Amino acid sequence: MQQVLYGEVPEEVIVEEYGLKYAVDLHGGQKTGFFLDQRENRQIIARHAAGRTALNCYCYSATMGLCMRNAGVQTLHNVDLSEGALQLAARNYSLNEVVPGEDEFLAADVKRFLGDMPADHYDLIVLDPPKFTASKRTIDAAIKGYKHINMVALKKIKSGGLLFTFSCSGLVDMELFRKIIFYAAKDAGRDVRIVRPLSADLDHSLSIYHRENEYLKGLMLYVV
Ligand SMILES: C[S@@+](CC[C@H](N)C(=O)[O-])C[C@H]1O[C@@H](n2cnc3c(N)ncnc32)[C@H](O)[C@@H]1O
Repeated sequence: MQQVLYGEVPEEVIVEEYGLKYAVDLHGGQKTGFFLDQRENRQIIARHAAGRTALNCYCYSATMGLCMRNAGVQTLHNVDLSEGALQLAARNYSLNEVVPGEDEFLAADVKRFLGDMPADHYDLIVLDPPKFTASKRTIDAAIKGYKHINMVALKKIKSGGLLFTFSCSGLVDMELFRKIIFYAAKDAGRDVRIVRPLSADLDHSLSIYHRENEYLKGLMLYVV
């Protein structure tokens, strides 16, 4: 249950991060209404976006997309299943006076979208799915889920493309995530280089005694 414990919570709060404004829906938004943990990763992705044809999967309020637009991405598709998330995304674009291109916001299931998308179209793909498992009972299904979306993205991304792939399941640690990506790359038949590991930003410090709180991990991959 979600309720206000003290004071009044406005319908919308505007926050600023690295010069861009974002609307945060504290009442109805996901998590805190804003994915603070991805702050530095948004900057890393944007640094490589100029001139690229990008696909931002599981985009939520398109914060990564907006950073890519700001950095000069050539074309961009932001995909999310939630209409509410895409409304927030549109609000974020207008707050920053960025006009979305045709089909820049797409309401779709990512698994289906990846299955239907043509090969060799995108040269930058972000996969930032929701937590695929919160229980050891469903970890096998989660592993299969991560492997599948990464395998399809790796298979279809343009040669020379970049895949930024994340998992926020605490039960899937970096070692297991790397193994999943290894099998995804192998089954996709692609030569894949790890450019750098990615993690939650500095303000999400980790208890040395509690491995599962290292929930957000990612990899920046270069696909030869
Ligand atoms: C971890 S959040 C993404 C956060 C976002 N990258 C950011 O930095 O703000 C996961 C998103 O996946 C969306 N989602 C969940 N299942 C989906 C599906 N099957 N297809 C597309 N989007 C989905 C949720 O609506 C949510 O917005």
